[in-house]
Amino acid sequence: MLMNNFDKNIVFIGMPGSGKTTIGSMVSKELHRDFYDIDEYIEERYGKTISEIFKNGEEYFRKAETEAVTELSKLSPVVIATGGGVIKKEQNIEMLKQKGIIFFIDRKVSDIASDINMSIRPLLKDGKEKLFELYEERYKLYESYCDLHIKNEGKIEDAVEDIIAKYKSCCK
Ligand code: S3P
Repeated sequence: MLMNNFDKNIVFIGMPGSGKTTIGSMVSKELHRDFYDIDEYIEERYGKTISEIFKNGEEYFRKAETEAVTELSKLSPVVIATGGGVIKKEQNIEMLKQKGIIFFIDRKVSDIASDINMSIRPLLKDGKEKLFELYEERYKLYESYCDLHIKNEGKIEDAVEDIIAKYKSCCK
């Protein structure tokens, strides 16, 4: 069935701590759409926190992540916030793109470092250097996989407004 662009999902990618979940939840309320955070979806499904799931290894978590992406990509129209590492598998992005427009939430890594909660993020348990390393590794992937690039540098409400305006103009 042909898809009207206004039925398209809004999907957020970006670094941990870039604001995907906060922004996603705000956008979903504005547009009266259901909101799914992939990490929360996995936690509910497994009855465990992301840190507990990571105890079985990153590979195990990545499989759970791809399962969640497979299920959530089938819905529409919804708003989806991904985990920062979703771009590690091209297959995840292909699925998310089938029914979705991908927004890269780009926040300065120094701002992220100043307020990120490291204790709930197993990949960052060894310190902030890892955050900078991941940023270097991933920035180009976020840029190349996104349909729209959003800077989250000022007020969060401004980023939300920008996203909704861009979404509506690409649905015309
Ligand atoms: C990860 C980011 C986390 C979570 C997991 C792995 C990553 O999500 O999926 O800890 O590889 O960057 P957030 O981006 O919501 O922190």
